[in-house]
Amino acid sequence: MIDQSLVLIKPDGVQRGLVGEILSRFEKVGLTIVGMKMFWVTPDFAKKHYNAHVDKAFYAGLEAMITEGPVIAMVLEGVNAVELVRKMVGGTEPKSAQPGTIRGDYAHVSYEYADEKGIAIKNLIHASGNLEEAKQEVALWFTKEELHKYEPTHEKHTR
Ligand code: CDP
Ligand code: MG
Repeated sequence: MIDQSLVLIKPDGVQRGLVGEILSRFEKVGLTIVGMKMFWVTPDFAKKHYNAHVDKAFYAGLEAMITEGPVIAMVLEGVNAVELVRKMVGGTEPKSAQPGTIRGDYAHVSYEYADEKGIAIKNLIHASGNLEEAKQEVALWFTKEELHKYEPTHEKHTR
């Protein structure tokens, strides 16, 4: 039941100075940060991370967006972390993402707007979509040595 999610604060989130705001939401809900680093994604690495999307019409824009600046990558652990993080992140399109979610609260653009401009949807954050994706993504982004086991003092109350 305790699982790990791979989360990226994308270049738009880093450049807008929203790392702290976004991170604090995950800390407050009681998730544990077990790995974290800053990394500038290359086109090659983008194709690995977004392997499922390389043939899609929006891929060129997506690659341009994810390689435009460094990202903050992290692994968050908790009870049903993958599902919880997706709930907190909200829907892919900021326009229709629920208020209270990260994408709904800090972005607002629509698919229509991004498509017309020929750019990717800037929605601040990536989060593993399901358990299988999470396992692959955690292994792609972090070595075993980069993931840490320690005792968060709040676990007495949050788990
Ligand atoms: O990130 P999420 O899992 O919610 O969505 P996805 O379907 O896996 O797509 C990955 C990313 O591609 C999105 O977060 C958007 O940044 C981008 N995208 C886009 O720009 N235009 C689309 N029509 C679909 C996705
Ligand atoms: Mg996805």
